[in-house]
Amino acid sequence: MLEIILPYILIGVLSAISFSQAVIHVTPDHFPFQALVQGNLGGQAGALISKKHVITLAVDLNVSEMVTVYLGFLGHPLFEKYRNEGQGQIITSKKIIIHSRYMNISDKYINNVAIIVLSHPVQLSSSVQPIDLLSVPPIPGLHPNISGWVAGDDSRLQYNSLILHDVDTCIYLYGTEFLQTQELCYEEYPSSGLNLVGNPITVNNKLIGLLTFSENCVKHQSYCSDFFLIINLFPFITWIHTQIGAGVKSHDTSSPNILDLQKPDDLIEENKRQLSDIKVLQNTTLKTINKLSKKSNEMERAIEKILAAQISDRRENKDIISNIKKINETVHNLLKRLTNTILSPEET
Ligand SMILES: *[C@@H]1O[C@H](CO)[C@@H](O)[C@H](O)[C@H]1NC(C)=O
Ligand SMILES: *[C@@H]1O[C@H](CO)[C@@H](O)[C@H](O)[C@H]1NC(C)=O
Ligand SMILES: *[C@@H]1O[C@H](CO)[C@@H](O)[C@H](O)[C@H]1NC(C)=O
Ligand SMILES: *[C@@H]1O[C@H](CO)[C@@H](O)[C@H](O)[C@H]1NC(C)=O
Ligand SMILES: *[C@@H]1O[C@H](CO)[C@@H](O)[C@H](O)[C@H]1NC(C)=O
Repeated sequence: MLEIILPYILIGVLSAISFSQAVIHVTPDHFPFQALVQGNLGGQAGALISKKHVITLAVDLNVSEMVTVYLGFLGHPLFEKYRNEGQGQIITSKKIIIHSRYMNISDKYINNVAIIVLSHPVQLSSSVQPIDLLSVPPIPGLHPNISGWVAGDDSRLQYNSLILHDVDTCIYLYGTEFLQTQELCYEEYPSSGLNLVGNPITVNNKLIGLLTFSENCVKHQSYCSDFFLIINLFPFITWIHTQIGAGVKSHDTSSPNILDLQKPDDLIEENKRQLSDIKVLQNTTLKTINKLSKKSNEMERAIEKILAAQISDRRENKDIISNIKKINETVHNLLKRLTNTILSPEET
């Protein structure tokens, strides 16, 4: 029998017609950190961030209850028929840790993260692998992936590319509902319908955040549509690393204070990680600049053609031509400056 998500659970529903085209189906090997967390109130997605820890949303979780975590699955694990997939792993929780800074709206945690400590470590395989968090703030214009399943739908693992907006665009789209300190917002062209909350957002195999409800969805506790919001994990990174004992070699849980002290070796490791993340971001930005350069060159060729065809002795034509040339210079200089900035960050 199929398990149907209870109607009172918050489900973001997007128009069924608008997606189908964008989604790209993949096997669990492509997103081996993808997790599904099933509690008494239903299911939500998450990401494996260590052999023993899964990060997810705090909304709909009850620390006093146990949850079941599904890892390495291709079919939506809330549907019983997929649960015997050979590569899948099903592990119960030992403990749920909810971050203490959250907004309490209608008795729900919103915009908050929870870490699920597994009752035993995962068996690492090509389908089940933890993912690192992006250790620098994500920049607008990035094209990360969203991966996972569709809420309440008999769907297979899939992903889509999206584009991160800047803060101003997010405020324009969501108004005061948008929590700039902890959220990001994005656009998909066309929408994939990957609306299961907790679906991970990743770039070059680094975790940026998790799909989250908008405040409006939480308040009305009913079907809601078109919320393209992400919990930005960057502000939580120190807390997360402390909880999972990352960067701490002698993990002694009996004296938790030791977790607060970072050893020089760990700091160096952390710096290395950040440097590699910055390099990835540089590359992404460089690619964008190259694309811009190409476009600008194409435009220049078009302009040259137009100029060649102009009768250049007429005064207004001369003004237009000189304006176009000025714009062309400006674009060239801008691209040059951008390229220099991105290629020599140490010198600025
Ligand atoms: C959380 O779980 C405990 C134990 O099962 C239960 O007594 C309590 O009512 C639950 N809280 C919520 C908000 O569901
Ligand atoms: C949210 O706030 C209400 C009222 O202050 C309180 O009764 C409730 O326990 C809080 N809920 C959570 C999940 O913390
Ligand atoms: C998105 O996922 C696909 C499939 O795994 C991968 O090829 C691509 O590099 C990913 N894109 C980013 C920006 O991480
Ligand atoms: C950045 O791009 C260069 C050239 O394409 C490549 O050699 C390098 O490995 C890339 N670095 C990262 C961190 O992706
Ligand atoms: C545009 O500016 C560049 C750089 O100054 C120059 O090399 C190029 O000839 C200009 N193109 C036109 C059409 O004026």
